[in-house]
Amino acid sequence: MNSDISKFYEKGWQERLQILAEECKLSEEELDILKSLKPLDFSTANLMIENVVSVFALPLAIATHFKINGRDYLIPMAIEESSVVAAACKAAKIARLAGGFKAEATEQIMIGQIQIFTKGNKEQEIIEKVNTSKKMLLERANACDPVLVSFGGGARDIKIRRFDDFIVLHLLVDVKDAMGANAVNTMCEKLALEIERICDCRIGLRILSNLAVYRIAKAQATFPKKILGEAVDAVIDAWHFANSDQFRACTHNKGIMNGIDAVAIATGNDFRALEAGAHSYACLNGKYKPLTRYWKDKQGNLVGEIELPIQVGIVGGSTRVNPMAKLCLKILGVKSAKELACVLASVGLAQNFAALYALATEGIQRGHMKLHAENIAVQAGAKGAEIKEVALRMVEMKSVNEATAREILKEIRKGV
Ligand code: MEV
Repeated sequence: MNSDISKFYEKGWQERLQILAEECKLSEEELDILKSLKPLDFSTANLMIENVVSVFALPLAIATHFKINGRDYLIPMAIEESSVVAAACKAAKIARLAGGFKAEATEQIMIGQIQIFTKGNKEQEIIEKVNTSKKMLLERANACDPVLVSFGGGARDIKIRRFDDFIVLHLLVDVKDAMGANAVNTMCEKLALEIERICDCRIGLRILSNLAVYRIAKAQATFPKKILGEAVDAVIDAWHFANSDQFRACTHNKGIMNGIDAVAIATGNDFRALEAGAHSYACLNGKYKPLTRYWKDKQGNLVGEIELPIQVGIVGGSTRVNPMAKLCLKILGVKSAKELACVLASVGLAQNFAALYALATEGIQRGHMKLHAENIAVQAGAKGAEIKEVALRMVEMKSVNEATAREILKEIRKGV
């Protein structure tokens, strides 16, 4: 598959679909899902959540030009914000000139937490009992999920953390290709009963932690100096701003999550888990920091790197129930959750580089304004080819509002 498609944005809908179908070997039925613009029927939606009355749509786009670990990817992104997809494509195109993204992910280990109360100085006694029963506890946890175990996953280790009047047992579970929330929560609830029995203690919460410090993805890319010129230093200065100031770091990381969430939504993954994990990881050492880092290599090229927890799955949850999510996973062609994590980390880095590059040079409003201006043109009554023309003239006039759009529309219709 080739993701280096020139001017995908200028092609019509049917042509974009045709390219996608060819590159990703989509069937007629799969193409129909994309064409229908109604990707979820009531009965499927009603199985996913409670009190369903309809389905909510978001635009689904394809980010082009991505090369990750030597392989091309066409990346589905579901998002309401203009410029995010264009920015990702632009960054991927620049990174591609120096070989694309190099990404890696750890094993897919999630943490389950069990809160154990230790009132009455029972802390040491409970810890000893848990430690001596560790093998049995891990076996009991694994008995909850024979399917996960048959795929090579399962509970791996137990760690204890101490607090004032309770301890927390961390159950480390390799969830393989699932996001793993259900598997981990089930194990925690089961194990809590066992711990209550052997330690004669009171149990509190039993739930996974989204601060998935053992489920980390990293990506790196080089953005050539011959393209960036002086912007190499400008991007590094922009990164220093985020590294020094939490107010800036927050927005810096928001930009990263623009891309990561969009792919997570398209693939039916839990973007709230990713958000929680990313922001918590950003302040793991006590001070909220940017999730990326930039420096110059010996040749003066810009090198960017991202590191964050990525908790996503390609099996279970809505990834397979929602036909559009299933199709997006096919378009991506990822074979494991680890591979999807590498894609998400690369998209996050691309998104962040594109934002810093724009902010440190011309600003982001010009890019944002184009689509915004088209929306205003439609609101003012522009139709067909008029939309682009009205938008273009408004951007040139630096006056993007409905009154200007109406004036321009009048002129166009008079042939001016
Ligand atoms: C907008 O959604 C995201 C940015 O604000 C990110 C950033 O400032 O780095 C452009």
